[in-house]
This record gives sequence, structure tokens and C-alpha cells, in this order.
Amino acid sequence: MAVSSINDCRMIEFPKILDDRGNLTFLEGGEHIPFEIQRAYWIYDVPGGEERGGHGYFELQEFFIALSGSFDLVLDDGKNKKTVSLNRSYHGMYVPSLIWRHLENFSTNAVCMIVASRHYSEEDYMRNYDKFLDYKRRDANHADG
Ligand code: TYD
Repeated sequence: MAVSSINDCRMIEFPKILDDRGNLTFLEGGEHIPFEIQRAYWIYDVPGGEERGGHGYFELQEFFIALSGSFDLVLDDGKNKKTVSLNRSYHGMYVPSLIWRHLENFSTNAVCMIVASRHYSEEDYMRNYDKFLDYKRRDANHADG
């Protein structure tokens, strides 16, 4: 995907089946998630004050869901930043490729589930922030030209 911006990141509300026995929420690939799901992983047992993430991806698209507890997702497209607080298990934040992100402010017992468009691949990671900025600048110039 070319020239993704934080405005392309969006919050989705999943269906809620309210029930006195306990509520149920679901998501389906292609329906609520704008990509074919190839992987899910989750982050849990995060010690107080720790951060996760701190990278971007060339190709990977992801969805972040606070299955339990809360945390902040900090998004950065190289020009603008925004922080999104996730604290409802029926909300998911879509993040396209080429967005730098990290997670912070985890509550006790927070569980962050990530639904992803590709299998794990270290080659897809952008782990150097300065290189990320260079890439975004080149990407933007390419789109303008
Ligand atoms: P990383 O994506 O860097 O963690 P963070 O959630 O903080 O962004 O992954 C940490 C380690 O886990 C890294 O060595 C790669 C490994 N890993 C997998 O093997 N499979 C996966 O699906 C993920 C997300 C990570």
C-alpha cells in the first residue's frame, strides 16, 4: 500500500450479542476485517510501565483489539501521530501497512489481540525509525510525482 496516513487507521465496532449469561462478540474475515486473516497473536502479562511494538511493516495490515483491560496504541505516519485508547473488547483498531506503532500504558491483566493479514516475517519489519521516515518521504514523493 502506498502513502498510508494515520487517517487510514480506523476504529471498527464489532457485533455484540448481549446476553444475561455473558456477552459475545465476533469478527469475520472480509466482513468486519478488510483483509484475509492469516495470523492472530496476543500480548499479555505485560509488566507495569512496559511498552511493546515500536516498528512498522512494509506489507502487514493489522487489527488491534483489547480483549481484556486497556492500553494505548500510538500511531505515527511520519508526519502526524495519534494515540488511541483501547478498552472495549467489541472495538478494533485497523492499522494499514507503513505506520509506525507502539503500545503503552497497559492496565493490569490487559490482553491485546492482533489479527494480521500475513504470516510472521522478520523481513517485513521496519525496525529503524530514521529509515522508516526516509522510506515514507520517498513514498510520498513518488505519489506526488
Ligand atoms: P515483535 O513483533 O518484535 O514484538 P512486539 O509485539 O513488541 O512488536 O516480536 C517479538 C518476538 O516474537 C520476535 O522475536 C518475533 C517473535 N514473533 C513470532 O515469532 N511470531 C509472531 O507472530 C510475532 C508477532 C512475533
